Amino acid sequence: MLSRQEALDLVNANLTKKNLVKHTLAVEAIMRAIAARFGESEDLWGLAGLLHDLDYEQTMNSPERHGRLTIEMLEALDVPAEAKDAILAHAGHRARNSLMDKAICCIDPVTGLIVASALMHPSKSIAGLDADFVGKRFKEKRFAAGANREAIAGCSELGLDLHEFFFVSIEAMSGISRELEL
Ligand SMILES: [Fe+2]
Repeated sequence: MLSRQEALDLVNANLTKKNLVKHTLAVEAIMRAIAARFGESEDLWGLAGLLHDLDYEQTMNSPERHGRLTIEMLEALDVPAEAKDAILAHAGHRARNSLMDKAICCIDPVTGLIVASALMHPSKSIAGLDADFVGKRFKEKRFAAGANREAIAGCSELGLDLHEFFFVSIEAMSGISRELEL
């Protein structure tokens, strides 16, 4: 399987926007945490998270290619089919079948909600956040409106309620607060 370093090199070679790289690192961290919680492979789930937006800058003007181009870019590389399926599911090209598919679809949008919450928190840091604070921001529909609430609420498909999901996600992102500069 593609190593974490090889995947990170691909991310850095294909994504020039710092915030986008941070986003992929955040999704990776939460994917690993949720995988651990369900006894799934942290490396596999983390790989899907790290690579899920690899084509983002190339498909910004052709969103129907988002995800599909990533699969093409990964074609000659040793990336397991489950990870590719999850990447396609997150872009809406496949139904959410596996636990990993369901996880990536709710984790992708929650990262934006948490970053925006941290920026408006008095501490200006992820470490200062708790699940209640993020839960309140979640209910404010106009706050970080780009963070799709319905998709975030899909954590119920994992058997997690919102509070638990925010707790795990905040903890995972706190673990890489230096990389996220938050
Ligand atoms: Fe994403």
